[in-house]
Amino acid sequence: MNFKTLFSEKTLGDLDLPHRIVMAPLTRCRSSQPGDIPNALNAEYYKQRSSAALIITEATQISPQGKGYAFTPGIHSAEQIQGWGKITDAVHSENSHIFMQLWHVGRVSHSAIQVDNALPVAPSAIAVEGQAFTEQGMLDFEVPRALELNEIPSIVEQYKQAAINAKQAGFDGVEIHAANGYLLDQFLKDGTNKRNDIYGGSIENRTRLVLEVVQVVIDVWGGSRVGIRISPTGTFNSMSETNPQALYNYLVDKLNQFNLAYLHVVERFGDDASEDFDFYELRRIFNGAYIANGGYTGQLAEQSLDSNQSDFVAFGAPFIANPDLPEKIKQGAPLNPADPDTFYGGDSKGYTDYPSLVDAST
Ligand code: PHB
Repeated sequence: MNFKTLFSEKTLGDLDLPHRIVMAPLTRCRSSQPGDIPNALNAEYYKQRSSAALIITEATQISPQGKGYAFTPGIHSAEQIQGWGKITDAVHSENSHIFMQLWHVGRVSHSAIQVDNALPVAPSAIAVEGQAFTEQGMLDFEVPRALELNEIPSIVEQYKQAAINAKQAGFDGVEIHAANGYLLDQFLKDGTNKRNDIYGGSIENRTRLVLEVVQVVIDVWGGSRVGIRISPTGTFNSMSETNPQALYNYLVDKLNQFNLAYLHVVERFGDDASEDFDFYELRRIFNGAYIANGGYTGQLAEQSLDSNQSDFVAFGAPFIANPDLPEKIKQGAPLNPADPDTFYGGDSKGYTDYPSLVDAST
């Protein structure tokens, strides 16, 4: 297979990237405790993967309230900012680029994780199905507390402060996580947003919080250093939406006012795929780069780029098991399989010990 377009240069915002393979955000639950602090092992992991044209970090909680899983890192304390600084230094020492993914989980949390055992917050008091991953093990999700209207500015403020902190930690930019059933997605979709104030009901109202968050984040970074991730058809975390095409066409059109670097679209997640959603409409509406994600191989990525469906392709699971994924794709080398047992939590096993082609030849 000829990967001519995949290995051609392209600008993303104001960054000149050497090729089109992006490392997708991947939750790995290996921060230091107590305090959810990024550490030297995390730095080694990211450094190993710095042949990605751009690394997007694992989802990172913007505040204690934004945390939903044990051992995920944060970007709200001095120690966390310092820890991330080691990671940005490591990636920059390899001449690569790294954006931080800003995350508030909303209802996908548990009182056992929250400060003072408070209930998780959400647009409406509707529980997610399943169990939360806490320091005490798996616990059934609870019915969250619906945010009061006068609390919304504090949510926006959490994103702003996290954006400031990410800048201090030396990142090249940030990605706003508005996908996969977390807080911003809970506001967007009508299965989880039953509010009857200005943040619920109409599409205009349900997109309001996301647009307010994007505004404060670009105030910190400038649009060219900000991306946003969405999952229009995603059902992960018990999500549903009656009319995704209308919702996301509207949202993406509104995002154009910010001149963002990119729109990162989860086109499928696991077995989740929708045939009747037209992602190409979003690509056509959006005025920045389109990053496609979800089940791509090198060949599918090249086809997507060549047919002008995307500008970059983000790979998730393949990057877990293949630190030098771009080189392997280029050479057509077989990929290491990823071991799901070591995806979440643990140590260097299944994290920094996957061999690259160089390791395999020595
Ligand atoms: C997860 O921990 O499974 C997870 C986290 C963030 C996502 C998706 C999945 O966006």
